Amino acid sequence: MAARHVPQNYSPLPVVAASAQGAWITDVAGARYLDCLAGYSALNFGHRNPEILAALADQLTRVTLTSRALHSDRLGPFCRDLADLCGKDMALPMNTGAEAVESAIKVARKWGTDVKGVPAETASIVVASGNFHGRTTTIVSFSDDETARRGFGPFTPGFRTVPFGDAESLAAAIDDTTVAVLLEPIQGEAGIIVPPPDYLPAVRRICSETDVLLILDEIQSGLGRTGKTFASDHWQVAPDLYVLGKALGGGVLPVSAVVADSSVLGVLHPGEHGSTFGGNPLAAAVGSTVVGMLETGYWQERAALLGDHLHRRLHELSTKGLTGIRGLGLWAGIDVDPALGTGKELSTALAQRGVLVKDTHGSTLRFAPPIVITIDEIDWAMDQFADVLASCSASASAEVTGRPHTDPRHT
Ligand SMILES: Cc1ncc(COP(=O)(O)O)c(C=O)c1O
Repeated sequence: MAARHVPQNYSPLPVVAASAQGAWITDVAGARYLDCLAGYSALNFGHRNPEILAALADQLTRVTLTSRALHSDRLGPFCRDLADLCGKDMALPMNTGAEAVESAIKVARKWGTDVKGVPAETASIVVASGNFHGRTTTIVSFSDDETARRGFGPFTPGFRTVPFGDAESLAAAIDDTTVAVLLEPIQGEAGIIVPPPDYLPAVRRICSETDVLLILDEIQSGLGRTGKTFASDHWQVAPDLYVLGKALGGGVLPVSAVVADSSVLGVLHPGEHGSTFGGNPLAAAVGSTVVGMLETGYWQERAALLGDHLHRRLHELSTKGLTGIRGLGLWAGIDVDPALGTGKELSTALAQRGVLVKDTHGSTLRFAPPIVITIDEIDWAMDQFADVLASCSASASAEVTGRPHTDPRHT
């Protein structure tokens, strides 16, 4: 049915989810899968987290949608608490991640024109190669992924791309028209690329010295995933604007936000920006619950501890065909020797063994389970991964030697 009625803009794993709880998904035939992709970090707190479902159910009995044409008793507290979590004083609520990135770009351009004094229509924003910030026309305008761009032009001007991880090139790209630098602190879609340790502190310094806003897209990396509230916390760097999404909606709703001080977000006036659903009472109730959960520090600590275990187990497999292991906390990008198969083949083989992971770019796999996962479940997933690598390398050597290969599951 999906092949006939849904545009083929994704290439999903051959799994049809019917229900889910915690770190597990059950398909229409009753088979269970350990979710190690977590909706690209939208499910940091697990499927149907009870605390989030309770907040949602409670708000359903009150008021769910007002539009921003009037106030709701949920919006102010949500934005105050989210701003507090970020050490800022305002939050602009939106829905999807791409919408929040678009909002940050608009705010930066408006700040550049109204506050910095950059002549109208000339503002430039510096971005990094390999970036992924979403799918809108403006955002793909500064992507260097040809698949994301081909056929979608003409594009939005005003972006300069520099190599990720290279602060000198970034400094050289800044001129009098530059209003912002927009980066993922750790590049997710590019394969969980962690920059050199001195990169983000240097970028922070350069932005401050040149009066340029630092915008960090923490949509995938933030809200507990890496073992800290924000990935940028690992380098003690605070941006001028945080862009948040995914897990902010607790795995139940699209909730995103741009968080900054009023000296930045205060440039917006009535009619200049908005979204009918942005900050609706249901979303705000869920978002407030997520912020409250993160304020305890429990999720960050759990992701750090479990992440250490995940990375330890992955490194044990490093001689079994892994050519690169990167990441922080419960987030790992793993390059597999292409001789063992493509990322798609490996993730399909893992799904057949009950472990869901996502491939990206060639033979790279991403492990990003919900933070509710247990050590035993991580061990089980790693055992399945070891088996898949072993059977792929047996197939690869059978291909080379011409000997038939026996699937261990059938012996
Ligand atoms: C870093 C980053 N920014 C933005 C987005 C876009 O978010 P959404 O798909 O909710 O528009 C994503 C999605 O994967 C992302 O990883």
